Amino acid sequence: MIVFGASDTTGLAWEVSKQLDCPLGKVESKEFPDGELYLKILSKVEGKSCAIIKSTRTSDDLVYTLLLADALRDNGALSVHAVAPYLMYMRQDKRFTEGEALSAKTILKLLDEVDDDVTTVNCHFLSEGGKKMFEGTWIRNLDAMPLMVDHFKPKLRNPIVIAPDKGSLGYAKKAAQQLDCEFNHLTKKRISGKDVIVKDKKLDVKGMDVLILDDIISTGGTIVEASRVIRGWKPASINVGCVHGLLLNGVEQFQGVVDRLVATNTLASPATKVSVAGLIADDLKSI
Ligand code: R5P
Repeated sequence: MIVFGASDTTGLAWEVSKQLDCPLGKVESKEFPDGELYLKILSKVEGKSCAIIKSTRTSDDLVYTLLLADALRDNGALSVHAVAPYLMYMRQDKRFTEGEALSAKTILKLLDEVDDDVTTVNCHFLSEGGKKMFEGTWIRNLDAMPLMVDHFKPKLRNPIVIAPDKGSLGYAKKAAQQLDCEFNHLTKKRISGKDVIVKDKKLDVKGMDVLILDDIISTGGTIVEASRVIRGWKPASINVGCVHGLLLNGVEQFQGVVDRLVATNTLASPATKVSVAGLIADDLKSI
C-alpha cells in the first residue's frame, strides 16, 4: 500500500505510513492564480493499493481528495481508499426544513464516485463504529472515543461522564462503562449557529471529576455553556474530550472554564493530544 497525505495536515498520514511500514506517496500541488488546485502524482501507483489520508476541513481539502483519488485511478492504482478523519458537512444529515440540501449525502456521493471506499472517524450522525449505509452510500466509521477515554482514565479519581446534549448520550454511556462510573446528560437548546442555552437541571457532581465528551467542538459555545453550568455545581474538575477540535474561536475561551481540554489529531489544534493513527492503520490493514 502507498499512503498519500498532505503536508498541511497533522502528520497523520506519515504516522499511519510508519505503522503500516509502507511508503508515503509524493504529490506535487500548487494553486493557480484564480485559486484552482493543480495536482500531479509523482509516485508510481500502477497496480498498488492507495490510501488518501486527509481531513476535509475546507472545500479545497475536498477538491484535493477528489482530484487525487481520480488521478490515482487514472494512473492505474489497484484500489483507492479515502480516509477523511474529519469529514466536513456531516452535520446536515437531515432536511430540518423543506428545500434544504442534504449535504452529508451529496459529499459522500461525490467521494464514493472516485474512491473504492470512504472512511471517517466519528461521523457526526453515526453513534457507533462500523460500516453503514447512508442514503445509498457506504461509509466506514471509526470510533476514537475509547482512545479519548483511555487518555483521561488515569487523570480522573472520582469520575462522572456528562453528555452536553442528548445527541452525545451514547458516547457518555459507553465511556461510563469504560470508566465504571455513572453518566448523565444536559439539555441543550441551540439559539443560533454559535449560541446555545444549557438547561439548568441540577446534577449531583459535587467533588467529582466531570468528563464531558462531544464529537465536535466548533465555536465552543456548547462546551463553554455546559461547563459554566456544571461549574456552579462544584465539581472537583471539568475535563473535556472531543474527537474533532475545529475550535473556531481558539482555545483561550476555555481557560478558567475547563481544567483540561483534549482533542484528537483528526484536525491539528493546540488541544491535540490523542492520535487516531493506530485506529486508521488497523482499519487499512483489514481492508
Ligand atoms: C452537536 O450536535 C455536536 O455534537 C456539537 O455539540 C456541536 O457541533 C458543537 O458546536 P459548538 O462548539 O459550535 O457549540
